[in-house]
Amino acid sequence: MDYKLLNEQLAALCEGVEEQVTLLANAASLLFNTLPEVNWAGFYLAREKELVLGPFMGRPACVRIPYGKGVCGTAAAQRATQLVPDVHLFPGHIACDGASNAEIVVPVFAGGGLFGVLDIDSPVKNRFSAADAAGLQAFVKTLEAFIVTLA
Ligand code: SME
Repeated sequence: MDYKLLNEQLAALCEGVEEQVTLLANAASLLFNTLPEVNWAGFYLAREKELVLGPFMGRPACVRIPYGKGVCGTAAAQRATQLVPDVHLFPGHIACDGASNAEIVVPVFAGGGLFGVLDIDSPVKNRFSAADAAGLQAFVKTLEAFIVTLA
């Protein structure tokens, strides 16, 4: 996967955008339509007590996830990327789409705090590598720079 190119495409899509929801919607679409073997890509947004579903591509998903629950809530609570080769082995995994077998969640920061998480699901076990994690963290860094300008 050419994450350098993906990052450049993201930056081009974000240039001149003045709405956070627009940034996130196009970022989710770019990931969903570019990454192979992905069945869900999108964002959960950090709210007072929980994560709330944001822009995404894929099947309808659970609306609220408490901090510390599931893969997304764990990423939010630990403020750390979660790379899950097999979601069925992850304690407390929240199954939104029965087709999902692997997952990666990257926290998104803005204004010195947690903004939300990027969540990507795959039907293929072991789908995400350390290289994917690094590429997606770079993708999130690019996105964060645009989010901050709108805060
Ligand atoms: N599987 C996630 C829930 C969100 S869906 O995958 C879109 C989790 O365990 O946090």
